[in-house]
Amino acid sequence: MAAVELNVDVPHSARIYDYLLGGKDNYSADRNAAAAIVKASPSLPESMRVNRRYMVRAARYLAKERGIRQFLDIGTGIPTSPNLHEVVQQVAPQSRVVYVDNDPIVLVHARALLNTVPEGAITYIDADLRDVQAILSADELTGTLDLTQPVAVSVIAIFQFIVNEDEAYRIIDALMAPLPAGSALAISTVTAHNPQALSAAQEYTARGIPAKARTNEEVQALFRGLDLVEPGVTLVHRWRPDDEDADVDDAHVQMSGGVAIKTG
Ligand SMILES: C[S@@+](CC[C@H](N)C(=O)[O-])C[C@H]1O[C@@H](n2cnc3c(N)ncnc32)[C@H](O)[C@@H]1O
Repeated sequence: MAAVELNVDVPHSARIYDYLLGGKDNYSADRNAAAAIVKASPSLPESMRVNRRYMVRAARYLAKERGIRQFLDIGTGIPTSPNLHEVVQQVAPQSRVVYVDNDPIVLVHARALLNTVPEGAITYIDADLRDVQAILSADELTGTLDLTQPVAVSVIAIFQFIVNEDEAYRIIDALMAPLPAGSALAISTVTAHNPQALSAAQEYTARGIPAKARTNEEVQALFRGLDLVEPGVTLVHRWRPDDEDADVDDAHVQMSGGVAIKTG
């Protein structure tokens, strides 16, 4: 692998997230930014853990209840167990997963993401969500996913960094258009209905990481043209919750999301 420029003097969202989830792949610029953000938004670490559990439930639902065997996960983050492939390959070992992130620290750890069971396949693409054509035409993707069969696209905790609605629609349309009926889209993103989430978005923005909190209507609009499955767009701990999420306080959850199916 070519040398990777980590740019450690500047905070990165993947490393702030890693730090707040208790990981070790972060630098003092990330930890300082995280401390300031948490001061303004104390429930953020809990909200991140709740979001991570939502990713697990959404991925398991798509593999188990919808029978999807191909996954395109964009904004993967630094490996954090369980990673999406571990969830879906536990349901169906033949599951094939393409991971995408644009942060060099994730690239450094990509090998940990590529640990597939022999029946399945996993690959990693170093690319930007905004360049959908580069993702869809990458050899790693076309060699791993069969785009004539359903694919679940998961964009978990990344759309808050796409602050323009038209750009968000363009990205989602470009991702979903080539996929066949039965494909799915899973989203979580920062909610505007929690004052601490609004503060967190402002604090990220102030540190050079533009971020946006969305209303429920704005999150629903990201799914336009697709069929939202029950319970629709909710705070993430309320989306098909496990026992673990039963006692989570709404006021501590800064993310909303949902899962939708392409029917036409
Ligand atoms: C908050 S983390 C979420 C990680 C994981 N999806 C989860 O929910 O646990 C956001 C991730 O999105 C990545 N990211 C942000 N903007 C991106 C972009 N434009 N293209 C690709 N990845 C991006 C960051 O590098 C980071 O790893």
